[in-house]
Amino acid sequence: MDDYRRMAERISRSSYAVALTGAGISVESGVPDFRSAGGLWSKYDPSEFGTIESFRANPAKVWKMLAELDQVLASADPNPAHRTLAELEKRGILRLVITQNVDSLHQRAGTTKVVEFHGNNRTLRCDSCGQRFPRESVSLASLPPRCPCGTALRPDLVFFGEPISGDAYHQAMAAAGKCDFMLIVGTSASVAPASQIPRLAKQNGAFLLEINPKASELSHHLTDFRIAEPAGIALPGILAALDESYNS
Ligand code: APR
Repeated sequence: MDDYRRMAERISRSSYAVALTGAGISVESGVPDFRSAGGLWSKYDPSEFGTIESFRANPAKVWKMLAELDQVLASADPNPAHRTLAELEKRGILRLVITQNVDSLHQRAGTTKVVEFHGNNRTLRCDSCGQRFPRESVSLASLPPRCPCGTALRPDLVFFGEPISGDAYHQAMAAAGKCDFMLIVGTSASVAPASQIPRLAKQNGAFLLEINPKASELSHHLTDFRIAEPAGIALPGILAALDESYNS
């Protein structure tokens, strides 16, 4: 497809390409996104299940949603989109993946430079005594799981109403400030401050390529080009076009 060739040509000419990914890149791994029809927020109201206030008020209730998500993530594997980003890193084309996802699928696909903007599902932590526990060491047989100090444990992810970790924020914004090509894959770009990342990249002259079957909040005024296809199709297509150009 001509779009793949054109985008392959552009990304191969970039000097500092960065990817920003959202839940859409993991949909083809069987993980529902948040805001599409049938997404997580159509089943669980984010104001009741997604905020730090709601977690503190009723951890058992929020853990009902968290345990369901945990189950889905446990059976999810990287898909061709994750693997393509890992290959682009291996070739020295992609310098960093900034992900809003907590599913660790980029790392499992082989990407080594990942900024987890909203944290991850690999660790649970206690907000009272600060202890951290690998997820696999904690049973979810009874909810909420509790720290030996008695407090309900929580995943190492960012609830609505919580700040982004300083490291993640600064690494992401620094990369957005110096990239000349940003691949934006599978995000509605509806949540700040993650949604500021493409804006900063654009301000610094980056070319924004969006891969999303539906338009996002960036598509009409910020994105330079959108491939309206699933990431698991478009990204391997761009990689194949790259290989074709190398071999021609
Ligand atoms: N390939 C590419 N994009 C896809 C695919 C796919 N196969 N399937 C769905 N999408 C797109 C949808 O069209 C949508 O624009 O992925 C996007 C998912 O948007 P959201 O569900 O809003 O997820 P995301 O943008 O990651 O949400 C950001 O909001 O709820 C919080 O913390 C949560 O990190 C999350 C943040």
